[in-house]
Amino acid sequence: MILVTGGTGLVGAHLLYHLLLENDIVKASHRKNSDLQAVKNVFSYYSDDFEAIFQKIEWVEVDITDVYLLEKAFENITEVYHAAALISFNPKDYAAMRKINIEGTANIVNICIEKQVKKLCFVSSIATIEKALNKTIINEEEDWNPENNNYGYAITKYGAEMEVWRASQEGIDVVIVNPGVILGAGFWKNGPGELFTKINKGLKFYSEGITGYVAVTDVVKIMIQLMKSSLKNERYILVSENKSFKEVFFQIADNFKKRRPSIKVTTFMSEFGWRLLKLVSLFSKKPPLLTSHSAKSIHNTYFYSSAKIKTALDYKFELVNETIQKVCELYKR
Ligand SMILES: NC(=O)c1ccc[n+]([C@@H]2O[C@H](COP(=O)([O-])OP(=O)(O)OC[C@H]3O[C@@H](n4cnc5c(N)ncnc54)[C@H](OP(=O)(O)O)[C@@H]3O)[C@@H](O)[C@H]2O)c1
Repeated sequence: MILVTGGTGLVGAHLLYHLLLENDIVKASHRKNSDLQAVKNVFSYYSDDFEAIFQKIEWVEVDITDVYLLEKAFENITEVYHAAALISFNPKDYAAMRKINIEGTANIVNICIEKQVKKLCFVSSIATIEKALNKTIINEEEDWNPENNNYGYAITKYGAEMEVWRASQEGIDVVIVNPGVILGAGFWKNGPGELFTKINKGLKFYSEGITGYVAVTDVVKIMIQLMKSSLKNERYILVSENKSFKEVFFQIADNFKKRRPSIKVTTFMSEFGWRLLKLVSLFSKKPPLLTSHSAKSIHNTYFYSSAKIKTALDYKFELVNETIQKVCELYKR
């Protein structure tokens, strides 16, 4: 039996649907206040029969920081897809990210070792891939440099990867995927889904930084293929194409038939902006819309290579403009 953590998130919900398509028997974790309706909404994008498909999941209420509940959730489990994480660029969330992303993963690894599960797939991020100087294309071989000015989310996802490598040292087969920005339908109020909402509502700003993008459907299909293959103890960058924020924002606006964002954010604007928004958040008590890290990252230009996974699985990624078109259609629906 398969255990999916983070089943109520963007990756987890799409993963659950694709696992059920393969007739796999699946248990999924949710927390007390998780929104299960959001998972049903994702299923409804794929099938009219979404209620019946949803009912096939065995849900277990578990927080991955709770070892006792996690142990119970592992009953009859032979394979684990670990997608649960806290994603935040707010420095205030660093301690919580250490707890959930590193300690939570350590808990999962410990139980995987204790129960001798067959294979563990961990969803990491391109945030953990070192951006070596003087290299135009970034691949999986770059070593993490702790001396670099890394940000909280990246540090904790890297810490989680270290835990997963510990599982492999203890004889558990593992695969790690490192996706770029994941584009997919559902969860329109947070993560990359919020971008579609903001642009639909007339977002005015764009920047010319470049990063890697990938469709959520490609991410989950690759995870399943890796788990069903004999490949093990490797990590794989999952990026379909590297594109500028400007290009992606414009494509989303065009698909919505909305005005393209028209104000280019300069370095001065973002440096001034995050400080101003930090002040605003002190009064509003809401998380800042821009942090010191995100203010810098929107100007970075990084090109990632997915050659390793393309060769390993003979995989062809969906093009980013096709993904954007499909996601916009589902947003409108
Ligand atoms: N989104 C991206 O662009 C992106 C890119 C690269 C890598 N990733 C990685 O992909 C994975 C999935 O991301 P996502 O976009 O699906 O994130 P998401 O939509 O924010 O979902 C996060 C999931 O983790 C669960 N979770 C959080 N804390 C938990 C805890 N203490 N115990 C149990 N479950 C917990 C959440 O449950 P609740 O529903 O209860 O909150 C939710 O199901 C993450 O590991 C992330 O680092 C994401």
